Amino acid sequence: MNQIRVSELTKNYQTGKVIYEVLKGIDFSIADGEFVSICGPSGSGKTTLLYVLGGLEPYTSGSVSIFEKELNTYTDSEKAKMRSQDIGYVFQFYNLIPNLTVYENILLSSVLGGNKSKDEILEVLDSVGMKDFYGYYPSQLSGGMQQRVAIARCLINDPKIIFADEPIGNLDYKNGIAIMELFKKLNQDFHKTILMVTHNEDTTVFGTRTLHMLDGKVIKDEKNNQ
Ligand SMILES: Nc1ncnc2c1ncn2[C@@H]1O[C@H](COP(=O)(O)OP(=O)(O)OP(=O)(O)O)[C@@H](O)[C@H]1O
Ligand SMILES: [Mg+2]
Repeated sequence: MNQIRVSELTKNYQTGKVIYEVLKGIDFSIADGEFVSICGPSGSGKTTLLYVLGGLEPYTSGSVSIFEKELNTYTDSEKAKMRSQDIGYVFQFYNLIPNLTVYENILLSSVLGGNKSKDEILEVLDSVGMKDFYGYYPSQLSGGMQQRVAIARCLINDPKIIFADEPIGNLDYKNGIAIMELFKKLNQDFHKTILMVTHNEDTTVFGTRTLHMLDGKVIKDEKNNQ
């Protein structure tokens, strides 16, 4: 099944009378279980593409279907359900709530997806190697640890697709590689479809496929040798 299908997608931003064409006609499909890296220079439209696919930004023309349904035809409540339960997000700067513990950060997200038990929250923390830190506050953790918690937060509602925008952009090499290994495990062992933006071509080897973007277009779409 194609979980994501994009056809002739364009996206403009307008500031006053000036129109910026940011996505300029994009076509691709992503099947269940793929791990796709999106790379390209700054300003090529990578984040905008993720926002559009996640229903966070409207698109200008063309078609985007998620789970075989055109995004434009989702009602607000269907979109909210999709964003809270079917899709997970991981960002460069973790976006954890500083005055909540690790456990409470995950509990808060689980409320959106229909509440989870303490055991389920500890289990998801265990899957990212952070169970022992459930009572810590984000400021007491390293960047790599905070990103693990952010990944656990995205996993708690068992999403089918994970969107990640430069998830290791703020980490040193060693922590970055460990997080990439974790994403690979989520793809291979937990069958998550992953769409990950990265600046660094070296990290595309963890995925199954790479889309190269330049100036609002996909200029190369290649399968990776595993
Ligand atoms: N809200 C906005 N209003 C106007 N222009 C925007 C807006 N968001 C992004 N842009 C423009 O769209 C273009 C693509 O931005 P985008 O953030 O998608 O690029 P990116 O590939 O993610 O870059 P980076 O690698 O720096 O994160 C840029 O020229 C940016 O200035
Ligand atoms: Mg970006």
